[in-house]
Parts: sequence; C-alpha cells; structure tokens
Amino acid sequence: MKARILRTIPSLRKALDSHRVDGKSIGLVPTMGCFHEGHLSLMRRARKKHDIVVVSLFVNPTQFGPSEDFEAYPRNEKRDIAMAKEVGVDYIFAPSVGAMYPQENVSVVSMHGMTDVLCGASRVGHFDGVMMIVCKLFNLVQPDESFFGQKDYQQCKVIQRMVTDLNMPVRVAMCPIVREPDGLAMSSRNTYLSDAERVRATILYRSLMDAKTMIKQGKCSVALITKKIEKVLSVGVSRIEYIEIRNADTLVAVRNIKNNPVVIAVAAKIGKTRLIDNIIVR
Ligand code: PAJ
Repeated sequence: MKARILRTIPSLRKALDSHRVDGKSIGLVPTMGCFHEGHLSLMRRARKKHDIVVVSLFVNPTQFGPSEDFEAYPRNEKRDIAMAKEVGVDYIFAPSVGAMYPQENVSVVSMHGMTDVLCGASRVGHFDGVMMIVCKLFNLVQPDESFFGQKDYQQCKVIQRMVTDLNMPVRVAMCPIVREPDGLAMSSRNTYLSDAERVRATILYRSLMDAKTMIKQGKCSVALITKKIEKVLSVGVSRIEYIEIRNADTLVAVRNIKNNPVVIAVAAKIGKTRLIDNIIVR
C-alpha cells in the first residue's frame, strides 16, 4: 500500500475504520519527527508485526516546559515523510497543533511516583504532556500494539503503567536503543551538538559501559557504581543532572543490584544540550 499523509482526525478515523472492519492488525509508532535510525527501527518492527502501520509525527507542545525547546525543536517534515515511506509505513499522521488541541485542555492525564523521579524531577509536567498525547493517539488510532524506544526508558515504563492502570487495550513494546558507531544513543537533539561537543557526548555511553564492567567484576554497590559513573562523566560533560540506579520495572531506587533487574540511567548537559542514556542490567 502506498503511504498516505493524514492531517485531520476525521480522515484518520475514516482510513483506519475500514481496516478494522477487514480485521487487520494495527501498529502505531508515536514520534515527534526529525527521524533517525532509532525511529526507523521502531517503524521496521511495527512493519514486521502488523498489517497496517501508522506513524504519528507531531511535536507535542504540552510536554515541553516554558523554558524548553518547543520552538527550536528540529523539524524536517519533508525528509521525515520520505524516510517513513522508504520503510513502507501505511499512514503518516501529521496533524497541526490546532487539530490535536482545538480548545484549552481542562482534562488531565497524570501519574505520581514514577513520573516524579529521573527526568520528571527536573521536567515538571513533562510526563503529563506525554501521557496526554499518547492517550489521545491510542484513542484515535486504537492500535493493537504501539512501539516505544528504550532510549526514553522512563517514558516507556510510564506508558506501560498507564495502559495497565487504565485497562487500555493496547500492547506497549519497548525496542532497543539504536546507537551511533561510537556508542552515542541516537537522538533528534544530537543535531544541537557542535563538532567538539559531539565528540565529548560519547562519554555518557562510556560511563555506562564502565559501570557494566564493574558489575561483571562483582562490584554491586550502588554507591560505588554511581561514584565511578560520576568520575567518568565529570571529565566531559558541562553538568550532571542525575545518575540513578533503579528497579527496572517500578523505577524505585535500589541499594544493591543483586536481586532485581535494574536500569542505570544518566542525564547530563554537553554545552547547552541535555542528553540522556541508560542500560538495563539483569
Ligand atoms: P521522539 O523523541 O521523536 O521519539 C519517538 C520514539 O523513538 C520514542 O519511543 C523514543 O524512545 C524512540 N527513540 C528515540 N531515539 C531512539 C534510539 N536511539 N533508539 C531507539 N528508539 C529511539 O518520544 C517522543 O518522541 C515523544 O515523547 C512521543 C512519545 C512521540 C510523545 O510526544
């Protein structure tokens, strides 16, 4: 099927209703565009598993804080559409802000606990905005399965929990982080980095690999591992926002990593650019 670009909610509903009547399975990949291999890997996985693949392309204003980069967020719709077509998606849903938010939102979708830690500690309200837009997309597309990246680990866990708590009939798949050859996790925000910053940015991944080596050697103290990551990071980053080791499922802080799978997550600024990365250790 040739990819179609849909801009309005009625056109999306109409297109998908016909497939649902035919009993086709639907996979959804929510994105904010500026595609790289990370986004494409989610689309490919959806393509493999589902009859119909919908990619949403929408820079969602409600998940950006007042001092964040909503206006500056990289946009390149023409290139994105060409890349998504190349993967063979069926629909690219690229609505305007007015189509998604026709009036002031007085309803809220929110979560406590899981959303107050890690990225949520500094980005107050961010996950409310993410939950709101993902909830809208789930209601509009009614996918059988949706695809999210481990790159935004907390985001994926929050969506999985929202779906469980609210009994939403959609599976939420977490897909592996796609990295540059030197280990830097691909991100739309990497385009903000200068050449020199881009070289320094690999330090996030290297610090996580050092942590993994320590764990392999049997050093399982969270305090020691955190200290090691801090030491490595402080050489290359402008500011460390957090270094956290948490239960991989609940995101509750742990003291040692022997019992349950954990996520080791870091956020740091390289120049003015905020980068995040994580690994899961079982
Ligand atoms: P965006 O940053 O465009 O990311 C879209 C999806 O791509 C997310 O699930 C993200 O985790 C995944 N992704 C990004 N970089 C990746 C990488 N290097 N490897 C694998 N997957 C990667 O995340 C958002 O948009 C928004 O918050 C959204 C969920 C669309 C809601 O607005």
